[in-house]
Amino acid sequence: MAKFYINNKSGRCALSGQVEISGSKNAVLPILAAALLTDEGCEILDVPALRDVEVMCMLLRSMGAKVKEHYIINSVELDASDITSAEAPYGLVKKMRASILAMGPLLARTGKARIALPGGCAIGARPINLHLKGFRALGAKIKESGGFIEATAASGLSGANIYLDFPSVGATENIIMAAVMAKGPTVLENVAEEPEIVDLANFLNKMGARIKGAGTDTIKIEGVERLRGTKHTVIPDRIETGTYMLAAAITRSKVEIKNTVPDHVRPLIAKLKECGVGIEEVDDSLIVDATKGPLIPADIKTLPYPGFPTDLQPQFMAFLSTVKGDSAVIETVFEKRYRHVGELNRMGASIKAEGNVATIDGGKRLHGAQVLATDLRAGAALTLAALAAKGRTEISEIYHIERGYSDYIKKLRKLGVDIVKADDTPLAGRGAAAAAYGGEGL
Ligand code: EPZ
Repeated sequence: MAKFYINNKSGRCALSGQVEISGSKNAVLPILAAALLTDEGCEILDVPALRDVEVMCMLLRSMGAKVKEHYIINSVELDASDITSAEAPYGLVKKMRASILAMGPLLARTGKARIALPGGCAIGARPINLHLKGFRALGAKIKESGGFIEATAASGLSGANIYLDFPSVGATENIIMAAVMAKGPTVLENVAEEPEIVDLANFLNKMGARIKGAGTDTIKIEGVERLRGTKHTVIPDRIETGTYMLAAAITRSKVEIKNTVPDHVRPLIAKLKECGVGIEEVDDSLIVDATKGPLIPADIKTLPYPGFPTDLQPQFMAFLSTVKGDSAVIETVFEKRYRHVGELNRMGASIKAEGNVATIDGGKRLHGAQVLATDLRAGAALTLAALAAKGRTEISEIYHIERGYSDYIKKLRKLGVDIVKADDTPLAGRGAAAAAYGGEGL
């Protein structure tokens, strides 16, 4: 299988220059699924070149949609005028759990959906009970059989009042997409407020939906008869933004990050400033300057938006392991998002995780090692640690990382990182390894 090799002779890879952020993975996936809601064409711009986007396009094609990916100009054209299947097969759901986001649109458009149960993943059990609670409230009949969830709404969906026990991002997105053409009004309470929800609602409203309150904890939807095609530009990826901000911080460098929405990374800006990192906002750029003075550690607790994002927890932990002093991380969103701790400790970090609390004895000199990317953001954290680790680091299972970071090697090299992707599979096995590509979607 392919690996990343990062060479770092000095023990701190000095970064410089600029990096351009791509469109948001977690915004584009529900938006692509939402194109199923109309029989007219849609064009999505600023689509990141990611494996997850490819898998979502494969899924939509398997349902009968015509999908044209133009990676040179980062756009995707979709035409779901003819839906021939309302099923998401296990083979695709296994590759990407966000396939579940097709369920709401299929129910709304065809009155039925049959989705392979996504199952758990490296960071948690990832149940879908809240998605199903919403669909039932809208009038769908749900049954589980043979590892599939089957939902039917023979007489269509009707608006309802739905309270989410937890502000789940996916459940909020799925229920919005199911409710936009339901008969009558829907009120969703205690919903997720992430920017990706707002981007989805903006896309749907351009299609003719009537959604109010996206970005707050209560969303009101007036069902409409039909939706029309539209064109939409995806918001920049706030987690990619945060990852490169932390690359500058962990290497004590000064880097300009372009095409960002500073408001979407407020918690990280605040935390890095608390640690002594300088951050300047200039239009849609963030200039991160970690070259001045010793940094100090800061504790973090992950929370649903607008709290500190769980998707930046592993990367921030890698940064804390290089800052002298004690710090703590509390993970409240996923129940086992600490598999990067053991890998970081193999690089010389001193981190103890007990339950959902990790304590970091920061400031140890990190050294290169052979490490394993256990999931997307853990893999990003190991890359950051390698930038501050003397010697060579070999990261395996990098398909996780390539699911969520576009042009990863190109962007890192442009900043000054000596990184190589090599496939050390014996030639005979190379084809098998490629075919075996899969991994779990998060
Ligand atoms: C989205 O996952 C993101 N993925 C995740 O990003 C992100 O970590 C997560 O939101 C939280 O911000 C995409 O948008 C494709 P949730 P999602 O439903 O929707 C529990 C990345 O690295 N829950 O908000 O699956 C669940 O177990 C990925 O880009 C239920 O209990 O997250 C978890 O503990 C990782 N029942 C918590 O809610 C449900 O029905 C948050 O999950 C649904 C969720």
